[in-house]
Amino acid sequence: MSRTATTVLGAPAERREAREKAAGHARYAAEHTPSGCAYGWPVPAAVARGRVTALGTADVLAMPGVIAVLTHENAPRLGEPDDPTLRLLQDDRVPHRGWHIALAVADTLENARAAAAALRVDYETEDHDVRLTARHPGLYTPEEVNGGFPAVRERGDFDGAYDSADVRVDAAYDLTALHNHPMEPHAATAHWHDGRLTVWDSSQGSGSVRDALAQLFGLDRKQITVVSEHVGGGFGSKGTARPPVVLAAMAARHTGRPVKVSLPRRQMPAVVGHRAPTLHRVRLGAGADGRITALAHEVVTQTSRVKEFVEQAAVPARVMYVSPNSRTVHRVTALDVPTPSWMRAPGETPGMYALECAMDELAVATGLDPVALRLRNEPDTEPDSGLPFSSRHLGECLRRGQDLFGWQRRDPRPGATREGDLLIGSGVAAGTYPVYVVPSSASAHAGPGGVHRIRVNATDIGTGARTVLAQIAAEALNVPLDSVTVEIGSSDLPRAPLAGGSSGTASWGWAVHKACSQLAGRLADLSGELPSEGVTVTADTREETGAEPAYARHAFGAVFCEVQVDTVTGEVGVRRMLGVYAAGRILNARTARSQFIGGMTMGIGMALMEGSTMDERFGDFAERDLASYHVPVCADVRSIEAQWIEEDDPHLNPMGSKGIGEIGIVGTAAAVANAVRHATGVRLRNLPLTPDKVL
Ligand code: MOS
Repeated sequence: MSRTATTVLGAPAERREAREKAAGHARYAAEHTPSGCAYGWPVPAAVARGRVTALGTADVLAMPGVIAVLTHENAPRLGEPDDPTLRLLQDDRVPHRGWHIALAVADTLENARAAAAALRVDYETEDHDVRLTARHPGLYTPEEVNGGFPAVRERGDFDGAYDSADVRVDAAYDLTALHNHPMEPHAATAHWHDGRLTVWDSSQGSGSVRDALAQLFGLDRKQITVVSEHVGGGFGSKGTARPPVVLAAMAARHTGRPVKVSLPRRQMPAVVGHRAPTLHRVRLGAGADGRITALAHEVVTQTSRVKEFVEQAAVPARVMYVSPNSRTVHRVTALDVPTPSWMRAPGETPGMYALECAMDELAVATGLDPVALRLRNEPDTEPDSGLPFSSRHLGECLRRGQDLFGWQRRDPRPGATREGDLLIGSGVAAGTYPVYVVPSSASAHAGPGGVHRIRVNATDIGTGARTVLAQIAAEALNVPLDSVTVEIGSSDLPRAPLAGGSSGTASWGWAVHKACSQLAGRLADLSGELPSEGVTVTADTREETGAEPAYARHAFGAVFCEVQVDTVTGEVGVRRMLGVYAAGRILNARTARSQFIGGMTMGIGMALMEGSTMDERFGDFAERDLASYHVPVCADVRSIEAQWIEEDDPHLNPMGSKGIGEIGIVGTAAAVANAVRHATGVRLRNLPLTPDKVL
């Protein structure tokens, strides 16, 4: 049964590729095997800093099935990339442990793996420094931080206002590095033929991978096709081209055969980005009524020696609360560590952990209820820019959430609720994530027999992008949903941005909406006389998306959480969690809920079990697989629910949507930590809250 267009947008439509995925027919990047395909296995550096001085390539070439060993001595020369993490096998430097220094290529995966393991590598080592401290001598203030934000913002007189405040909170929070670990590891299959390069890559945006390959291999973009049809998650780690696709293309050029490189999970922590560790100091000064008069959020973080990436963790403090006198600062140092990058809501996730725990500390210090404290500090305009909000319903999220959660029944005294060995507590935190939109193009085609085809190089990383784009098209064309087919996931399709920054649906959807609206107009002009070849319209949104925004645009949310703390084992369990979001119009109730609770689940992981610790002696992350890097499983997530406010915001895009991919993780870890403090009366400021910390 087809739905009519008036109900299609917002409906809980099922994922279009659901059956294909469940039946195993959906093919991921590593599942394309052109005839004659060889297999590459990367060799990671075994030292944290130094030079490769000798390689036992000849011995390995004599092993069964080995076709080639690519190293800096024989690999194809690459053009200078914008992203220096892709400058692979070009020289003998080892900038961090795990950096790829060779690629073994063989006829089978097993032979490639054996060859990589057997390769003898001699190094000249140098002392390494992988330890981040708040007083690291290498700390500097960068020009800007991730997202293009200024590293430092000062408004008013923070020091004066803080010194004269009635109530002061001054707290430090340390967050460990975190790793994205999507279910599907990074993989690519590359094939050169007739001077063209075709790759299947596990990527969040095949357009930017194609651009990177063009730069590296000195090709015209038209000579390259990158396909990312089905992608098993990325959380930001697949937002840029990664070593597998570059190594596969190099090896395919070198050997003259198609080559597949599937990154072993244990190599991922070193080469596909991660959330950098952050050290926070938050100071809040307030009147006795809880109204904030002074706010400082100072962040110290690290980057690698390969590339500067600065986690913008103090940026959300510029958005959240009334703060006439504020200071937000980032400082960074380059260490001999892997290069950090985007991980789900970079900046907001660690920043809002610290800020929302500090707000909880201010609630305790002022004796105010944590919800009431936040409501008291709602700003009229965005504190940093002074711009009006396009819409801001954080207050509604908090109020709706406290009703649904039963917050009013909470005994504010810490440690007051006990069930046998268990201490029970509840906590709340707010979340925010900016609205990003990027120019996109798309085409819409109407053919005989009432069929409609949308083409746009969107990527579905498991979110349901295909499905929601079909809904947007059906609504704009005023046709049944099942008359619309959607082609995405190839750089040969109309150019479109990556699935990142929670901007995908807004960006692609705007172009789809525009193309479909124009197509509907053309069809109306033809009054039923459709030519046999049909009608095709291509549209792009450069103009619409280019204007300087007159409004501050952000999604908001409030997370409520109840925990139990086992006083015997130190285990923390989340008993129930509720998120209430204000994220514009929700375009698919089913996939949106999945996005929200997926983000919240990742926030539970951050609060309770996820963490990458740096082994200082070896200069390496200690947790390099899912046996040691623990993520939440079903038993860790007992009751989790997401709700949303129907938000009508005319300043976004024709669909009225804000992004929903990242807001769910923001604030969640703080809600858990605040609940643990309420349960126990003890404030633990460093995550994850593993039993060793809790006991
Ligand atoms: Mo998201 S971290 O922008 O893919």
